[in-house]
Amino acid sequence: MDKMFKIVKDNAKSIREKSVEVDLITPEIIDLANKMADYLKHTQDEKYREKHHLREGVGLAAPQIGKNIKVIVVYYEEQNEDGSIRVIDHRLINPRIISESVKQVYLSGGEGCLSVDGEHEGYVYRNYKILVKAFDAKAQKEVVVTARGYEAIVLQHEIDHLNGILFYDRIDKSNPFKQIEGAERL
Ligand code: CO
Repeated sequence: MDKMFKIVKDNAKSIREKSVEVDLITPEIIDLANKMADYLKHTQDEKYREKHHLREGVGLAAPQIGKNIKVIVVYYEEQNEDGSIRVIDHRLINPRIISESVKQVYLSGGEGCLSVDGEHEGYVYRNYKILVKAFDAKAQKEVVVTARGYEAIVLQHEIDHLNGILFYDRIDKSNPFKQIEGAERL
């Protein structure tokens, strides 16, 4: 199986284009979403990552692999307080945010992106909690995903890609580390 994608960088015009809806959920589309998730999993394996000179990623949008269609994946593992592992694994087709909190959230270290090699320092504020409606390639049905905090950040970052938006577009150029009252810092 081909796990290697050529990642489209932010100097390519296509990364700024709006992606189109997937009209028909075909086995090929499901397969694409699964391959994108596999790719992320591989980038999280240090040995594999170094061998293939990959960067570690937790999210990927189809325009980043040269397909301007509405498919995103988010994959990472996190440790619960009791030590158990929670796997965050979203393989979403035609995702749309149907609800979002007023409360904001941001990463203290800023965001990164597989398509962005340059340095772009500053805070990216996003909605702390979102509801995303999509066709889930894993469950093979329409779902509503509820996400908070880091998970919500990654989902919003990937959905931005479908609109040609990159994380640094959301950094305040005149005040990159500005504080927004009430925002959660992660
Ligand atoms: Co990105």
